[in-house]
Amino acid sequence: MGEIQRIGILTSGGDCAGLNAAIRAVVHRAVGTYGWEVYGISKSTQGLLQRPPAAHNLGLEDTYRLLVSGGTILGTTNKGNPFAFPMADGTVKDRSEDIIEGYHQLGLDALIGIGGDGSLAILRRIATLGGINLVAIPKTIDNDLGSTERSIGFDTAVNIATEALDRLHFTAASHSRVMILEVMGRDAGHIAISAGIAGGADIILIPEVPYSLEAIYQHIRTLQERGRNFALVIVAEAVCNELGEKITQTHAFSQCRLGGVGQYLADNISASVGAETRVTVLGHVQRGGIPSPLDRLIATAFGVAAVDLIAEGKFDRMVGWQHRQVVSVPIESAIAHYQAVDLEGTLVKTARAMGICLGDG
Ligand code: F6P
Repeated sequence: MGEIQRIGILTSGGDCAGLNAAIRAVVHRAVGTYGWEVYGISKSTQGLLQRPPAAHNLGLEDTYRLLVSGGTILGTTNKGNPFAFPMADGTVKDRSEDIIEGYHQLGLDALIGIGGDGSLAILRRIATLGGINLVAIPKTIDNDLGSTERSIGFDTAVNIATEALDRLHFTAASHSRVMILEVMGRDAGHIAISAGIAGGADIILIPEVPYSLEAIYQHIRTLQERGRNFALVIVAEAVCNELGEKITQTHAFSQCRLGGVGQYLADNISASVGAETRVTVLGHVQRGGIPSPLDRLIATAFGVAAVDLIAEGKFDRMVGWQHRQVVSVPIESAIAHYQAVDLEGTLVKTARAMGICLGDG
């Protein structure tokens, strides 16, 4: 291919803290070092469906304050799969060709996609069909992407969940209550296990470890016998009820999302243990706000490395974090290896060694 002159960047899927820091780094490296143009595409691939495509040139002057700002200046979406795009008349249509056309209308030589596993799978499929030079940057508070130890947004989410436990600790002790904190994470328990250990939870429930309500009751009773007047429980949103069913809520536009397991636990615990129980659902607080220093650092390193991959002509790759270094891996392998909590890993072992109940006895 010819020399790179203009690249596009988009954010896809749920937002998280640190996306703007990555955009900032991409602009700095691409514009400042290589002298390329960078086009920020609006609302993920949806910007490429508009005519003219919704995108604007990002210069160094646009990067002020991006390091510390939450969300994404480009906008994003986690709905509207382009291969089954919902049309106004209620039908669905494959609009991948329109996206490819939008990319070419912008005169882009390469595209940086910042996303989680679902978004990256879709972007890769489009890139393969349309001959788009794609490089990916991993982001997700769920931290469930393969081939990278960390994704942008995870550290901030863990910090927020830990702070929530720190705060709940005191009010729990003051009122002699069982406090339950429900956190996000999609199908993985990374946020819950990390924040649970860091925030001193007594019980950590993650989807990877099957639990019994009886084991939870027993642990709370043991704490009470030892003189503790409160207990802190953190539960990941994908933890099922005892019948093995996921607990979900349906929002507007028929969007079904995980949520409600905290209340399920509270109802059972208060009925069986006789303890006053309250639930805090942390929700999107975990995704918003100022990125942690670690997320800013990783996002910056990822942004620089992604631009360097383009400069080296290495496409269809995702930057990742392994053993204190930025690496690059095929996007295909990153999305093929879902990263659940390792049951033999350090965090699970540490939790057990600290006497934290994981719900399995
Ligand atoms: O994947 C990120 C995530 O925040 C999950 O942890 C959560 O289940 C989901 O997105 C929430 O999605 P929405 O923003 O559509 O409510």
